[in-house]
Amino acid sequence: MADTKLAKGSSSAIQSGIAFQRCLNSLCGATFDIGQERTACDRCGDLLDIEYDWSRIEVPKRLSDFEQMWTRRYEPLRFSGVWRFHELLPFAPADKVVTVGEGQTLLQRADEVAKFVGMDAGKLFLQYEGMNPSGSFKDNGMCAAFSHARMTGAKRAACASTGNTSASLAMYSSVTRLMKAVIFIGSGKISYGKLSQALEYGALTVQIAGDFDDAMLRVREVSKDLGIYLVNSINPFRLEGQKTVMFRVLEALRWEVPDWIVVPGGNLGNSSAFGKAFRELKQLGLIDRVPRLAVINAAGADTLYQLYERRNLRWNDGAPDMSITCHYYDDLDARKAKADTIASAIEINRPVNLKKCLRALDFCDGVVRKVTDQEILDAKAQVGAGGIGCEPASAASVAGAKMLRDEGIIAPSERVVCILTGHQLKDPTATVAYHTTDQDKFNEVLGSRGVSRASFANRAIAVPNELDAIIRAIQLYG
Ligand code: F0G
Repeated sequence: MADTKLAKGSSSAIQSGIAFQRCLNSLCGATFDIGQERTACDRCGDLLDIEYDWSRIEVPKRLSDFEQMWTRRYEPLRFSGVWRFHELLPFAPADKVVTVGEGQTLLQRADEVAKFVGMDAGKLFLQYEGMNPSGSFKDNGMCAAFSHARMTGAKRAACASTGNTSASLAMYSSVTRLMKAVIFIGSGKISYGKLSQALEYGALTVQIAGDFDDAMLRVREVSKDLGIYLVNSINPFRLEGQKTVMFRVLEALRWEVPDWIVVPGGNLGNSSAFGKAFRELKQLGLIDRVPRLAVINAAGADTLYQLYERRNLRWNDGAPDMSITCHYYDDLDARKAKADTIASAIEINRPVNLKKCLRALDFCDGVVRKVTDQEILDAKAQVGAGGIGCEPASAASVAGAKMLRDEGIIAPSERVVCILTGHQLKDPTATVAYHTTDQDKFNEVLGSRGVSRASFANRAIAVPNELDAIIRAIQLYG
């Protein structure tokens, strides 16, 4: 499979309509050209999918054929952990593809975390997406959205963000100089690590007096009015890039399908993209079974859990009963309920990809759980003790795996992959508060969130500035 053939294949895909956008609503099903920018169906307003006429695309016969791409890593397309799977997201011609070398991430066997979760040794893996250039999984999708934006000739790109999407957008914008970044953030809701990225990379930063859900509504209005390209995960091209997280997981497992994928749920882009990845791989005959999917909400932002597990909202062959969702949102409004969790990245009450996530849960026999901030921080401390570390939202996946293991839904011998979505340094405030010796600091940051203990804290020891005392302390504790 020569690279020139791939590049040409992808170019002609655009010209001959091999890739297209299609409305998710089975009763509508409207299709749109791949070259147009849309974040919703013109006809019915529903979400859009990117679809392919696979019969006209040269897809490798076996997934292991992708291994040879790595031997050509001096080519930018093959160096990228996203674009070396180009044949499985062939919407962009090779000359429009944007890459900064994203997706060079790793799957790590984590036996200590497995012990914490209650799994057998060798059965729990952490897919560390914090290794991406901007420090979170967002780069997987951002390079895809940027490639599409480039195809449309966009000059500005916008997003609402709890921090990581904005950091990623700002980074692609400043590295490539292709588009100016405009980011919308809620007040006081973004961690300094993430905000510092957006500011330093030069994004126009608009702070809304409200939370993420408010910022999301506004950015949709503003980008429509001003003709700015929107890169939130409501953009279906983002999800094409995010599919590749699963391709890399399979690759690291020598193309064996794990039993479970466990992922934090915020705006539900990842879970939706993962479901699409497995649906397409199955359709293409590249895998013969799919893993089960567990989506983990924070207890303070648990819309998916409430709808799926408590109110039985289901995909229902493409016609979910959205009146259940409307009632739920009306009730949130009536109570003036706002999302609230230490895992600020997933502090979201109105997930834009809800319907796509329902489809993924349906296809992957999924479950949804909610975990408390206490459970998130304990799981995070365990992940960190293993040396990789993650931000609070990411640890929801490990806390969720533990909960499912405790419930007996995950068996100790099953193979489980937890997705660590963001880097440890993104949000150090909660980490430092968890490990602090200062009870006031602990209470200030964590007490109001119902976190009462730090069972896995690694506390600093305070010593006078005297050689003997320092040596005594090291001998005592070391
Ligand atoms: N983990 C991290 C670290 C995130 O930043 C996000 C989302 C999620 C999980 C949730 O992923 O939306 O695919 O369910 N952050 C977005 C942002 C909302 O603006 O950075 P999802």
